[in-house]
Amino acid sequence: MAKHQLFFLCFFFLTQYLTLTSAKTTAEVALVRWKNSLSDPSSLKSWRLSDAQSLCSNWTGIVCDNLNSVTNIDLNNQGLSGTLSTLDFSAFPSLTSLSLNINQLQGQIPPSIGNLSQLTHLDLNSNLFVGVIPAEIGQLLQLEYLNLYNNDIADAVPVELSKLLRLSYLDIGSNKLSSPDWSKFATMHLLTHLNFGYNNFNGEFPSFLSSCRNMTYLDLSNNKFSGVIPESFYTSLPKLQFLDLSYNSFWGHISPNISKLSSLTELHLSSNHINGSIPESIGSISSLKVVELFTNALTGRIASSIGQLKNLNGLDLRWNGLNSI
Ligand SMILES: *[C@@H]1O[C@H](CO)[C@@H](O)[C@H](O)[C@H]1NC(C)=O
Ligand SMILES: *[C@@H]1O[C@H](CO)[C@@H](O)[C@H](O)[C@H]1NC(C)=O
Ligand SMILES: *[C@@H]1O[C@H](CO)[C@@H](O)[C@H](O)[C@H]1NC(C)=O
Ligand SMILES: *[C@@H]1O[C@H](CO)[C@@H](O)[C@H](O)[C@H]1NC(C)=O
Ligand SMILES: *[C@@H]1O[C@H](CO)[C@@H](O)[C@H](O)[C@H]1NC(C)=O
Repeated sequence: MAKHQLFFLCFFFLTQYLTLTSAKTTAEVALVRWKNSLSDPSSLKSWRLSDAQSLCSNWTGIVCDNLNSVTNIDLNNQGLSGTLSTLDFSAFPSLTSLSLNINQLQGQIPPSIGNLSQLTHLDLNSNLFVGVIPAEIGQLLQLEYLNLYNNDIADAVPVELSKLLRLSYLDIGSNKLSSPDWSKFATMHLLTHLNFGYNNFNGEFPSFLSSCRNMTYLDLSNNKFSGVIPESFYTSLPKLQFLDLSYNSFWGHISPNISKLSSLTELHLSSNHINGSIPESIGSISSLKVVELFTNALTGRIASSIGQLKNLNGLDLRWNGLNSI
């Protein structure tokens, strides 16, 4: 064999070897690099490069597919503190689930999280994240579950969020988020669970909600929303079971069309500026268990049809101008 052929052959095997090993180690290297950036990674003792071959069998919180690509990183409640800035998301092209909830992770949610193109489940709830929701989150087109509940994330919600057309569960409650231009927000047809509660949302009722017809749970409570509840909202959400608009500044009357919310079990409209009378049609929502309308400006007679609500076990109408005759 000629010298240059031998050289070429060696070179060929060397590059093959390097390609294989680098493809195999990228995820381990990325994970250990991130682990080393955390201030107390004692729960991640099993994450050792010397045990790289056991990544899929024995590393805490790691699940792989049968091609040994990491599909799940599940590290909820592991006492982790540090940031995500050193975690190289592009090392996990097959990741479908990332759960880092209930830790002390801080800093920003990195824009590079948008590289997790297969992600269906992202749970960062109950950490110390600050900054904004990165617009790149709108690249996670497979996302079905997004939970950022109970952090310190601020600023307007990016309209890119509404590109997530597969989203069915969205919880961004208990942050410092504010309203975007809702008219730029698209309909999320599969959305069933939405929590915007305990934030700094202001201005009018989010218009896109009236077209999310699969919604079963909606919490906008404890914000600074104002204006009237649009008529189209009452008539468009036949599956809605839980509605909480309390502790805002909504005004205007409760529409008689509230009876079209025919699956409601809980209605919370307390501490707003709602006036007019309670419509008699409320008595036809037979699923109702809890009705809380306290601290509003309701007047007139209490709708006698409320007496027909056989499942009702909580009724609070205090601090209004209602009378019983
Ligand atoms: C898994 O890790 C434990 C300790 O964390 C060790 O005792 C065990 O031998 C490891 N198993 C494999 C297959 O690497
Ligand atoms: C990852 O995301 C960042 C920020 O969005 C981007 O600049 C970068 O090109 C992405 N990298 C890969 C490998 O996709
Ligand atoms: C409700 O969700 C189903 C899938 O669960 C979807 O096919 C349908 O288009 C949605 N309906 C509306 C009105 O958005
Ligand atoms: C109730 O909704 C219908 C449309 O479904 C609308 O035509 C009607 O005006 C609404 N009723 C009230 C009192 O606004
Ligand atoms: C309810 O409040 C609005 C705005 O303040 C007012 O225009 C309307 O007349 C009130 N309606 C009733 C029935 O008091």
